[in-house]
Amino acid sequence: MTDTKLNHLDVNFIRSCFPTFEEPLAAKTAFFENAGGSYVAGAVLNQLMHFYKFNKVQPYGAAEILHTAGEQMDNGRQTMADLLGINSADLTLGASTTQNFNTLAYACEGLVNSNSEVIITDQDHEANIGAWERLCERTGATLKVWNINTKTAELDLESFEALLTPKTTIVCMTHSSNIVGTVNPVDKVIALCKPKNIRVAVDGVSYAPHMWPDIPSLSPDAYCFSTYKTYGTHMGVMYTSEEFRSQLTPQCHYFNRGYESKLLDGAGPDHASIAALGGLGDYFSNAHQHHFGNTDQSLFEKALQVSSLMHAHETQLCNQLLEDLSGLPVHVLGRDHTDGREANIALISDKHSSATLSQQLANNDIAAGNGNFYATRLLERMGIEDIEDGVLRISFSHYNTSEEVARVVDTLKACH
Ligand SMILES: Cc1ncc(COP(=O)(O)O)c(C=O)c1O
Repeated sequence: MTDTKLNHLDVNFIRSCFPTFEEPLAAKTAFFENAGGSYVAGAVLNQLMHFYKFNKVQPYGAAEILHTAGEQMDNGRQTMADLLGINSADLTLGASTTQNFNTLAYACEGLVNSNSEVIITDQDHEANIGAWERLCERTGATLKVWNINTKTAELDLESFEALLTPKTTIVCMTHSSNIVGTVNPVDKVIALCKPKNIRVAVDGVSYAPHMWPDIPSLSPDAYCFSTYKTYGTHMGVMYTSEEFRSQLTPQCHYFNRGYESKLLDGAGPDHASIAALGGLGDYFSNAHQHHFGNTDQSLFEKALQVSSLMHAHETQLCNQLLEDLSGLPVHVLGRDHTDGREANIALISDKHSSATLSQQLANNDIAAGNGNFYATRLLERMGIEDIEDGVLRISFSHYNTSEEVARVVDTLKACH
C-alpha cells in the first residue's frame, strides 16, 4: 500500500462522481432524504446504460450478444461479493430487502415450530418485523419483542438477554435504525447467540450507506441491505452463511437448487440492476485511488477504507447540525451527539408538525421528508401520537456539504 494521500473526504471530487449534481434541480437542492435512497454514482449509471444499450437480451447462451449480457451480470454479482469480502455463492440478489427478508422467513419454516421463539425488535423497519411475525403465525412459533428503552429509544443488551430461553431459534435485529441511528450491539448479540445455535438475521439497510458492513468479522447468519441506498441500483443484497443456508428450505425453482446463489432467489431479479452493480466497484475503486493512491488492496478493503472517510465526513456534518440545533425547541430521537451514531437524525418540534417543517425546508430547496418511514412500531412505542406526521428526518450522505447543513439550520431557526 502507498502512503495515504488524503486524510479527509474530498467532497468536490465525490460530487463530481455523481452526474445528478449537474442537473439544475439537484444542483439547487440540499438533499437530506438519503435514508430513502441515495443518488446513483456515475460509474453505476454507465454500466446501467451499457447494459440497456448493448446487452438487453435474455442473458447467457451461445450467441455472442447473449454471452456478453451474462458476463456483465456475472461481473455485477462478483463485484458485489468482492465489495463485501464474501463468496458469490453466499450472495442473494433480490428486488429489495423487504422481499429478501420475506423469502428468508419462508425459508426458515423448517427451523421453527410451536415450541420455538423468534425475537424481533420494535426499533426495526417493518421489513424485518412483519416477515417474522407472519412466519410465527404460519408455524405457531412465539414472537417475542425486544423493546426499546423509551427514555433513550435504544435497545439495551440486558433486555435482550432476559428474552433468551432454550426455545429461542431466530433473532432479527437492525444494525442501526432508520430513525434512531444508534449502532446496535449486533456483535454482542451474535456472540451470545452463536454458542446456542440461535440464528441472527441483521438488517443493515440503514447502516450500510454510512459505514460499509464488515460481514466477515461480524459473522451473522444473514445480513441484508439495499443498494439503492448505497449509490447503486434498486436491489436488495442478502448474505447468508453456507452453513445456515444448508438448513433452509430452498425458495427457487426446483431445477435451480443446484445453484447455491439461487436457493433464496424467490423472484427473477432485474438483470440490468445486477449488471450495473459492477459500477459500484468502480466507484469505490476510483474514490480509493483518489484518496489513497494506487494500492493492491482488495475491493473489500478499499470499500472499508473509503467508507471510513465518508463516515468521518458525515459525522462532522451531523455534529454541526446537532450543535446548531441545540437551542431550538426540537427533540432528537435517540442520542443528541454522534458517538456510536449514524448521521441520520429524526426529530420532532414543540411548535410545528413534522409535515410543516418538511414543507418549510422544501420552500428553501431542502429535501428532508417526514413520516414514520415504515418504523411505525418504534414511533408508537415512543408515544408519538400522529404517526403519519411522524418525525422530520434529516439523513446525510457523504456528498452533503457544510453549507447545506447551514441552510437546514437557518431554515429551522427561522421557523422556531
Ligand atoms: C432500516 C430499513 N430496513 C429495511 C428497509 C426496506 O428496504 P427495501 O426498500 O429495500 O425493501 C428500509 C427501507 O427504507 C429501511 O430503512
